[in-house]
Amino acid sequence: MRLLVTGGCGFIGTNFIHHLLESDPTVHIVNLDKLTYAGNRGNLAHLEGPGSRYTFVQGDIANAELVRHLLGSHAIEAIVHFAAESHVDRSIVDSAPFIHTNVVGTHVLLEAAREMGIHRFVHVSTDEVYGSLGPDEPPFTEDTPLAPNSPYSASKAASDLLALAFFHTYGLPVLVTRCSNNYGPYQFPEKLIPLAFRRASRGEPVPIYGDGGNVRDWIYVLDHCAGVEAALRRGLPGRVYNFGGDAERTNLEVVGTILDLLGASRSLIRFVTDRPGHDRRYAMNSRRAKAELGWQPTTDFPTGIAHTIRWYQTHPNWLESVESGAYRQFMDSWYTKERGV
Ligand code: NAD
Ligand code: DAU
Repeated sequence: MRLLVTGGCGFIGTNFIHHLLESDPTVHIVNLDKLTYAGNRGNLAHLEGPGSRYTFVQGDIANAELVRHLLGSHAIEAIVHFAAESHVDRSIVDSAPFIHTNVVGTHVLLEAAREMGIHRFVHVSTDEVYGSLGPDEPPFTEDTPLAPNSPYSASKAASDLLALAFFHTYGLPVLVTRCSNNYGPYQFPEKLIPLAFRRASRGEPVPIYGDGGNVRDWIYVLDHCAGVEAALRRGLPGRVYNFGGDAERTNLEVVGTILDLLGASRSLIRFVTDRPGHDRRYAMNSRRAKAELGWQPTTDFPTGIAHTIRWYQTHPNWLESVESGAYRQFMDSWYTKERGV
């Protein structure tokens, strides 16, 4: 299979590319990534080189000419589309890049896929498109009406609807996956879990928005990657698949677990002004993915969070290079330092 992965230098894309190249010796991957602040080419740099099944291309998914050229010149059969602006807080400060990448960029990819006769297009989306749940409401199903609340989730919902419209109107074989909050190696340290690790491991305060009672359903990133692969291989075009981790936790519980794993005091917790429009609770019903794709999450939260914290502890150069900005210089950043060359 010859695959175009977009946004492969981000958190989930990096884990997905590692996972697929290891599990399928026949797959060839072209990774199209703009290298925004969230993209780290060094994550996959060891895979680059002559004869490799992995090719990196720096570029914007909204560049129609480039996308068409890549699909044709690499004889791409399928697309897995991760590229996005992904941070809710940033979308509140400036939503323009979210519209550019998440809406316009997705539209460009869909048009190019249609023109070039792509066999499968997996559009990777999020539980946030369903809005917010009350404490006693049942988890989101694929039939829950879309009710996004942030500029980020609104831009993702727009792209989901475009993707599904391309299936209904043109027969483009699109599948939409919607997943809950991921955690694991390579997550950019603006997100709650790596941020709490970074601060608490240095004895610095950990900010918790509002009262800390907001609930997320946490899934280990490789379980999400396995779900995306299952949708790619066995999903029905035109269908939406939810993936959740069956691990609802309040933010206070998550940060408490991290502090315990680090042997740090709860006194590091600082309650700060809430995120505007902060969704209270997300929870996913993944019954369809389990029944139709044979998928299920295999890493429970206690195991996954312990592994994740261990990964950040044993990869201090990765975090340092992100914080210093060295990762943006690519090769001479953490990757070469890590290998002592
Ligand atoms: P991320 O922010 O870590 O990575 C995004 C990647 O996309 C980066 O490498 C960035 O350089 C690239 N990118 C951004 N704009 C681009 C453009 N115009 N052209 C090409 N590349 C561009 O994101 P993530 O957390 O890995 O999320 C990946 C996808 O999964 C997103 O679509 C997100 O909405 C979705 N998702 C994320 C989560 C989560 O918990 N992180 C949960 C559900 C769904
Ligand atoms: O639900 C899936 C979504 O999960 C993805 O679509 C998004 O791309 C991803 O960023 C994530 O969104 P969240 O907003 O849920 O993730 P974040 O890590 O930013 O925040 C998790 C929770 O923690 C949220 O309730 C806000 C809170 N928070 C976050 C930060 C950064 C804090 O309390 N303090 C913080 O410093």
